[in-house]
Amino acid sequence: MSGSAYEKMNIQWFPGHMAKARRMIEENLRLVDAVCEILDARIPESSRNPDIDKITAGKPRILVLNRADLADPAVTEKWVDHFRRQGFAVIETDAKSGRGVRDFSQAVRKLLEGKIKEFEAKGQTGRTLRVMILGIPNVGKSTFINKVAGRKAAVAGDKPGVTRGRQWINIDGGLELLDTPGILWPKFDRPEVGELLAITNAIKSDIIDRETLAANFMLRLREYYPEALEARYKFTPSPGDSGFDMLEKAAAKRGFLISKGEYDIERMANTLLNEYHEGKLGRLSLEAPDD
Ligand code: G4P
Repeated sequence: MSGSAYEKMNIQWFPGHMAKARRMIEENLRLVDAVCEILDARIPESSRNPDIDKITAGKPRILVLNRADLADPAVTEKWVDHFRRQGFAVIETDAKSGRGVRDFSQAVRKLLEGKIKEFEAKGQTGRTLRVMILGIPNVGKSTFINKVAGRKAAVAGDKPGVTRGRQWINIDGGLELLDTPGILWPKFDRPEVGELLAITNAIKSDIIDRETLAANFMLRLREYYPEALEARYKFTPSPGDSGFDMLEKAAAKRGFLISKGEYDIERMANTLLNEYHEGKLGRLSLEAPDD
């Protein structure tokens, strides 16, 4: 989903963090049978790093469309189809409440069916399967790990040959997760990626101009979910409105005034972004596979 009248925003990621994250992933990769990539269901393309194909070097992959509770269910369904057709195992989750998380271990076993058969042929029946969780910051990796592990989570402890401090969480008989998720850096290969990451709170930075971000978000909402704008902010967006005009209209309806005739755009911008984050505008996706 993209449009034309959007203000340019400059959002980046630090190369130092990137190198460190890559090293950590590469060190752990040889210890696992599969890689589980957590994505934000509202922006599966922008919350994923296309370099992961190279980084994970052919390891079987499972994709988790997390924050599905905040995403448009019809669009999420399209993403599930889209990724399954590409050969990924895919599940939908709301890691916060735990919905969908139960599907994880079965999906991993199905993904590794061939490998399990190979192990059995070699007499290694019941060999433990190990998975590493990967994802960009704030996508819900820790929440997901905790929920998958549940109450019966047991830290397996250090094992010979494993670097000190690396621990495995026992999920159920024969399935273990690396306790520390790998952090992937976002890839700003399209102009709107940084903006979508900021709207969904994957990037929380003081340097982001929240008013411009919210104004651009208004334009997206008018384009894809005008009914959500009308329902929540009680105005009908006109085609000629700029994003800032729409922020002003919403501020007027909310009574966010600085002085007579002057509306508090900053407050409205923060309100819009916070309310989207809290799901108060409804379940809205910001990318679809057919875009
Ligand atoms: P990370 O390890 O990938 O960095 O992410 P983490 O688990 O810390 O999750 C980041 C925030 O996202 C947490 O909220 C968490 O509760 C929330 N979250 C994770 N999964 C889901 C989900 O499926 N649905 C919803 N609605 N929220 C989810 P937080 O600490 O309160 O931060 P924030 O909400 O202010 O970003």
